[in-house]
Amino acid sequence: MRRRVVAGNWKMHGSTATIERLLDALVQLTTPQVDVLLFPPIAYLSAVIERVKGSELAVGAQNIHAESSGAFTGEVAAEMVKDLGATHVLVGHSERRRWFGETDTIVAQKFSAALRVGLVPILCVGETSEQRDEGRAEQVVMTQLDAVVAAVGITALQRSMVAYEPVWVIGTGRSATPADAQSMHSAIRARIRTLDAKVADGLRVLYGGSITAANAAALFAGSDVDGGLVGGASLNAEQFENICRAA
Ligand code: PGA
Repeated sequence: MRRRVVAGNWKMHGSTATIERLLDALVQLTTPQVDVLLFPPIAYLSAVIERVKGSELAVGAQNIHAESSGAFTGEVAAEMVKDLGATHVLVGHSERRRWFGETDTIVAQKFSAALRVGLVPILCVGETSEQRDEGRAEQVVMTQLDAVVAAVGITALQRSMVAYEPVWVIGTGRSATPADAQSMHSAIRARIRTLDAKVADGLRVLYGGSITAANAAALFAGSDVDGGLVGGASLNAEQFENICRAA
């Protein structure tokens, strides 16, 4: 039985005051059957890690650079994120791929950097609406997955998670159906199974894209859906807690 996960991706939202209010509520959350992860903006990473100490929450970064140090102004190394006490990192979020030109090669390098320092990378994959309309959704997702497996090897995936996030659903209020989600999750697991059955059985595959307290239970019902990566709704304590309960 894979343990459920709910991850809140705060993206570039929040301030000291709003984050304090959100955490005042979230630190009280008790979810014995669910791993709850928070991904604040990097500016607040330290403060959030401090604030959640003693709670059941774990904290990660939304992005890292692949190099361990160097002349990369404005970037943050996996080593630094680990040093601050974070445990997880998002890799290859569609917004990184779209707005910051992250290719499958760069994503694989970042995934590898996370493993190098002992952070758990959550590899984000997903197709755009055009790719889906052209019938290429599965091919696109498998190419994104294969690039990482080729770089780090299949057994390394034991120390990671995957998040399937259809790009046409993120932040749109339009949600994929539970059947859409389960179908892609099952394809992802089947692909991994062709390489290593044990890794496939243990890999937690999260769904992401316009998850709300209202649709979470139905989306999480799929047998290959192990939880969710939540954007907008993770900024609202009550919504997020209800999503955790649905998991
Ligand atoms: P959303 O974002 O829940 O606001 O659609 C999800 C994500 O981008 O991780």
